[in-house]
Amino acid sequence: METSRSQHHQLWREERQISSVISERMESKEGIFRRQLVDVHGVALFWSIAEAWSQVENFQAKKDDLLIATYPKSGTTWVSEILDMIYNDADVEKCKRDAIFNRVPFMELIIPDIINGVEQLAEIPSPRLVKTHLPVQLVPESFWENGCKMIYVARNAKDVAVSYYHFYKMAKMHPEPGTWDEFLGKFVAGEVAFGSWYDHVKGWWEQKTTHPNILYLFYEDMKEDPKREVQKVIRFLGKEVSEEVVNKILHHTSFKEMQKNPTSNYTMMPGDQMDHSVSPFMRKGIAGDWKNQFTVAQNERFDEDYAEKMKGSTLLFRTEI
Ligand code: A3P
Repeated sequence: METSRSQHHQLWREERQISSVISERMESKEGIFRRQLVDVHGVALFWSIAEAWSQVENFQAKKDDLLIATYPKSGTTWVSEILDMIYNDADVEKCKRDAIFNRVPFMELIIPDIINGVEQLAEIPSPRLVKTHLPVQLVPESFWENGCKMIYVARNAKDVAVSYYHFYKMAKMHPEPGTWDEFLGKFVAGEVAFGSWYDHVKGWWEQKTTHPNILYLFYEDMKEDPKREVQKVIRFLGKEVSEEVVNKILHHTSFKEMQKNPTSNYTMMPGDQMDHSVSPFMRKGIAGDWKNQFTVAQNERFDEDYAEKMKGSTLLFRTEI
């Protein structure tokens, strides 16, 4: 009798301990996800990047680092997979060694107890592929001091806005996107993670005019003629690659292949961070999907505002191919 009562107490204690651990975890996750963005030098970033900003600012680039820079949803994962293939002589098995977010760490992504891009990069061997979504003025100084090569990929604003809206819904680090119309309003105002698309694409475009180490690519060109664009990348890196290897790269990095490859489609990311049942990361992979999302009125308003924001720039985008 005595023993069984003390066993019961023990069990209750353990249950209470377990449930308090679970609720603490839930609380801490709630404290991590869906929080408001924080201003860092005029750019809206995740709260946790803002808190760890000095780590990002002081990132130590190496001379042979290659920086892959994009505004979110512009083809980052696609060009990352292409580069990892080039770096590994199109050895598909080598490229499947780990998830894309570990092969090409996202430098400024710091989320307590979840991920730290700066620390991840310190662990990987050179030559490193480094991903960033930072606007050009926030790129850590050491990249410029070391004369690192950089590849920027830009995608037309309308498709980016649509892709970003679906991504906001499935990737929990972002604040709630609200309705499509509300999200579009925030996108146009630059009140989304990594700030204004307009400033981002123009900032990198201008930087390119004085920095020959920057290759500026367009998602739409990659869709139109991936072979031509992959060859451009190879030339920029100063590499010699056979036709056979180029064809292997093209096959492995096609949307169809990347969509079903767990090491490139982000399904290896824990489900509480990205919920693919809401919207898959590899969603459509086309140019011109905005036509299925924008109303006529939204499109007219967007075009008018676009003309104003992009006035005077030589940067031209195609919204369909
Ligand atoms: P959609 O949401 O329009 O489908 P990022 O990697 O910068 O986050 O960009 C993600 C976008 O690139 C998604 O766009 C995704 O489907 C698309 N994408 C990824 N791999 C691709 C590929 N191999 N070819 C074409 N588009 C690709």
